[in-house]
Amino acid sequence: MVELTLLVVAELGFVEGVVYEVIAVSFSSKPHPAPIGVRFKDGLFEATIYHDTATYANLKVHPMCTLNVVRSGLLFYDAVYMKHKLRVMREGDYWFLADADAWLGVTVVEESPDRGRSVFKFKPSMLHLSQVKPKPYTRADGALVEMLVHESRIKPYIDSGLLVEAKRLYDLIVHYNELMARIAQNTEYQAYAKAIYESATRRMGELKGG
Ligand SMILES: Cc1cc2nc3c(=O)[nH]c(=O)nc-3n(C[C@H](O)[C@H](O)[C@H](O)COP(=O)(O)O)c2cc1C
Repeated sequence: MVELTLLVVAELGFVEGVVYEVIAVSFSSKPHPAPIGVRFKDGLFEATIYHDTATYANLKVHPMCTLNVVRSGLLFYDAVYMKHKLRVMREGDYWFLADADAWLGVTVVEESPDRGRSVFKFKPSMLHLSQVKPKPYTRADGALVEMLVHESRIKPYIDSGLLVEAKRLYDLIVHYNELMARIAQNTEYQAYAKAIYESATRRMGELKGG
């Protein structure tokens, strides 16, 4: 298990504390793909799953699933709205996405229910890599770049007197900074987001002062 944990970090590049979006394939009568966010911590994966989802119902019947690493937002769309488009295959007890860059077979080791949802802890028991080097998808990357883009326009807007526009961008930066605190707590992503947020706050503060 230690070896598999090391492999997960080395081959998949999961950084502790960061939430990665994967497509879970659970099953009951048939395999069922759905996007979920997972966090890797102390050799286990944690996911919060709502009780009103088919994924939750399936895990109660079969406490195992695969976590499929994909890099395209289009596949997440398909996993929500066009499930039939995804090619699903089977290996032993696990169903997985044929087009995943990598997938992990996991089993439930703990469930903590809390107001309509449960935090599950999953133990990895099988890692499958494809030809493509996997890069797990995190919203933190997109959020950080959005913050950078927005921050770069605040000063030009202020200098041009477009104060409503500047405030709109500042509000977006506040939003992404809050998101980062949820999906990448105590990580480099959060430290960078905080630096951008503070820079933007200073610029808006100078505006008030002047
Ligand atoms: C990127 C992404 C991440 C998601 N993460 C979660 C999650 O962590 N937990 C959850 O219960 N639902 C999550 N969802 C919502 C479910 O995937 C969505 O409700 C799903 O279509 C319904 O699940 P079901 O098909 O299992 O009923 C996420 C959706 C997206 C697009």
